[in-house]
Amino acid sequence: MGTCLQSALALGILEESAETLEEGTSVLKPLHRWEHEDRPLRRRDLAEDPLEQFLRWYREAEEANLRYPNAMAVATATADGKPSVRMVLLRQVDERGFVFYTNLESRKGREIAENPRAALLFYWEPLERQVRIEGRVELVSPEEAGEYFATRPYGSQVSAWASQQSEPIASRAELERRHEEFAARYPEGAVPRPPYWGGYRVVPDAYEFWQGRADRLHDRFRYERRPDGSWTIVRLQP
Ligand SMILES: Cc1cc2nc3c(=O)[nH]c(=O)nc-3n(C[C@H](O)[C@H](O)[C@H](O)COP(=O)(O)O)c2cc1C
Repeated sequence: MGTCLQSALALGILEESAETLEEGTSVLKPLHRWEHEDRPLRRRDLAEDPLEQFLRWYREAEEANLRYPNAMAVATATADGKPSVRMVLLRQVDERGFVFYTNLESRKGREIAENPRAALLFYWEPLERQVRIEGRVELVSPEEAGEYFATRPYGSQVSAWASQQSEPIASRAELERRHEEFAARYPEGAVPRPPYWGGYRVVPDAYEFWQGRADRLHDRFRYERRPDGSWTIVRLQP
């Protein structure tokens, strides 16, 4: 508890005045002050459709040579509002929404079943950009999930059978034994999609585009969907 608290305090303090911390009170090093290109985000730069805006930024993230430009945090919550968050990979995006694949019986799957809403977060550090998305969650059709599952590498297909995602297991050896067992059962090219493995589509009703700027005077724009399907756009204070 002591160390956590110190680290949390240090997070706030270190950036502004590292010298006020006594030596040895924190495991965190003072943050390096990176020079960044100034990339203003103006209202007139924005696409009226937030998906179009997302795709513009996504292409720039791809060009920035990130290892996983499609990595996103997905936040879900239980029916009584206890939140949880984890990273997944975006596998498809179009006017229907943002799709990721997972085990439907995992913790996130259970939370989505009882509370079908999620928030997504992309962070593209070299561009100093984050995109936040909020919306309801739908299950991807079994046909679509089957098609995507068929494109996955053999080892990953077998792992989808071997792993009861989010459940405890006694050892790594047990996990590997299960992997071998399913590999023996299903030869390469003939692994069916497990019935509990599928995709979720987050259908956005709000987006936020955040562009880091000098002096913490960042640019933020929030889009909200109107009942007729068009979008409002407002600038938020950083
Ligand atoms: C970069 C990255 C990408 C990931 N992509 C996925 C993914 O696409 N699907 C998935 O089920 N888990 C993915 N994971 C693992 C999840 O973060 C998480 O550990 C797992 O889904 C179990 O989460 P849960 O217990 O909250 O359901 C990824 C992890 C990282 C770090």
